[in-house]
Amino acid sequence: MNFTRADFPDGFRFGVATSAYQIEGHQFGGAGLTHWDSFAGTPGNVVRFENGALACDHYNRLDEDLDLIAGLGADVYRFSTSWARVMPEGTGAVNGEGLDFYDRLVDGLLERGISPALTLYHWELPQPLADQGGWRNVDMPNWFADYAEVVAGRLGDRLWSLAPINEPWCVGWLSHFDGHHAPGLRDIRATARAMHHVLVSHGRAIQVCKGLGVQNLGAVCNFEWSTPASDAPEDVAAATRYDAIYNRFFLGGLFKGEYPAEVLDGLEPHLPNGWQDDFPTIQSPLDWAGINFYTRKRLAHVPNAPWPAYAEMPTQGPTTDMGWEIYPDALQMFLTRMAREYTGDLPIYVTENGMASATNPDPDRIEYLDQHLRAVQAAIAEGAPVAGYFVWSLMDNYEWALGYEKRFGLVHVDFDTLARTPKASYHALADWWRG
Ligand code: FCB
Repeated sequence: MNFTRADFPDGFRFGVATSAYQIEGHQFGGAGLTHWDSFAGTPGNVVRFENGALACDHYNRLDEDLDLIAGLGADVYRFSTSWARVMPEGTGAVNGEGLDFYDRLVDGLLERGISPALTLYHWELPQPLADQGGWRNVDMPNWFADYAEVVAGRLGDRLWSLAPINEPWCVGWLSHFDGHHAPGLRDIRATARAMHHVLVSHGRAIQVCKGLGVQNLGAVCNFEWSTPASDAPEDVAAATRYDAIYNRFFLGGLFKGEYPAEVLDGLEPHLPNGWQDDFPTIQSPLDWAGINFYTRKRLAHVPNAPWPAYAEMPTQGPTTDMGWEIYPDALQMFLTRMAREYTGDLPIYVTENGMASATNPDPDRIEYLDQHLRAVQAAIAEGAPVAGYFVWSLMDNYEWALGYEKRFGLVHVDFDTLARTPKASYHALADWWRG
């Protein structure tokens, strides 16, 4: 990788990201059951029925892992707190041991000169809340606001940044329409409610955290570029619907106080009563916007099918171990489009980007990161106010429904011995991040 820090604007921050359930080991420290445990415990949902009970055992190897982040020269560590670790029932009693763990994590980062970037929800919903309908339940914003208050009340004075929810599209669509993630539903009404409640919950948490004086509040969305599979008007419209559902629904809600017509065509009859009145909450002012970026899709119209009536067509370019096309131009296009159409001068952070690859050493990962960093530079040259770039992920971990076989880490994890070994990509980044 041929970069130095001087190739990026002053104050540009580099970092790495993880999430609680994917690395901690949820069996430890009094964490409650989550809907991911139930989902993974149902045959057919997850490769080899794997779950996050042990994961990378990060809960017991905290210092070793913080040293790895420091060794990389990262400015920022983006991590999440597990709701079920902090509040095993989802509401009410707080698990002191769980909160203490995150307290040690934050202090351990600060001692090493690393800025803590907290996400409050990265998908492990406490099972008792899932039992009550989870994100479908109109009470979710209240439950989430209470949880936000507990975590921000304890950690908020030492955070560099806070984002309430990782990737609302995954929480809503992927988990309730596609059924690929917990709770594994395939139901349009559940989807509409989850998509809306996740944004209301985001806004409520922002308000709570602002009230507590937490600085630097943002939102983290994942976006996929959509390209029509042909020039046929039906395919162009299919790609537009995909873009509306995946990208513009969340950008529109957060930054314009509206949902795209192409989404309302399908979801409006299923949205909760009075949904239009929630936009002032959803639009609670933010200090930055985060984008998680991995790939693009090619879309075709499916005749005689119910909304959204599209299908993903085979990829055309090189792919990662996830089967995701490597398409860095789309990162540049998203960054400039977001700034132009939605976020204006707000700093944008690439809060996740990286590739699954089992090769080790991993020149392919170095190449992937290199290409995407060049896309970031191109967006900056076009005027997009990009202020940081965080790699997914620090180490190989539990890749949700794909279990432990997809390796996104800069650090290799041997899932038998749990030994950590930095890969070539780790050393390549450290060479210039350490400065
Ligand atoms: C993102 C998730 C993250 C990880 C990467 C590969 O959608 O936020 O947890 O699974 O994809």
